[in-house]
Amino acid sequence: MSISHVSDDERGAAKACAEGIRRLLKAAVDKNGAASLAVSGGMTPRLMFGFLSRLKVDWRDVHLFWVDERCVAADDPASNYGMTLENLIGPAHIPSENVHRVHGELPPEEAAQKYREEIKTHFRLKDGELPKFDILHLGMGDDGHVASLFPGSPLLEDKTGICAEVYVPKLDAWRVTLLPGSILASRKLVMLVSGATKAETLRQEALGAYVPAKYPVQIISRQFRNANWYLDKAAAEGLT
Ligand code: 6PG
Repeated sequence: MSISHVSDDERGAAKACAEGIRRLLKAAVDKNGAASLAVSGGMTPRLMFGFLSRLKVDWRDVHLFWVDERCVAADDPASNYGMTLENLIGPAHIPSENVHRVHGELPPEEAAQKYREEIKTHFRLKDGELPKFDILHLGMGDDGHVASLFPGSPLLEDKTGICAEVYVPKLDAWRVTLLPGSILASRKLVMLVSGATKAETLRQEALGAYVPAKYPVQIISRQFRNANWYLDKAAAEGLT
């Protein structure tokens, strides 16, 4: 783990992460004329999305995807799309044609298939190819999960698939998630982790033995060497 930025508090980490994503988006658009950004959900990104929505980004050039989604309707409080719509898509006026959501209202397998086809179409993928998101944003759960890749999940070994539906026993809930191969194929990875509840897991992630079945974040962080990490002091406590 190379720490990019440790802020005093969650707000500072969110602000620094938003600015980091803006810089990466600009670089990708300057180079290729367009950019693809895949975002995670949960609670942490809300603040970051708010900051990002107020930064100077030409969203006409950016295509937005999700790293994972809960299998719920878009207007369900648990929907990552719904949270992103409220905090980023709406305030930043991102064009709807640039928003590639997971249709969580569909049956999980159908939602995953539809999302897989949308990704293949956008990236013009041949069979067996993986998408190369220009920027992919990950959070991390207290248990070390990233995306919807939870400890002990059989999907942790899947380096060839694009995305899949997954039942998460501890949540008794279905999700659609990008698979490790799609995450590792990204050009730039941005990690935003804040809060004291993440400190021990981050310490294990960075300093502990490589046990990805227990700490899925290690699959990404130990293989994706130049990820940009944005932490607050509380989460970084165990690293100093
Ligand atoms: C989700 C996210 C998930 C998230 C972690 C951290 O759908 O919940 O994509 O991977 O990044 O669970 O969530 P918090 O930010 O709420 O701690």
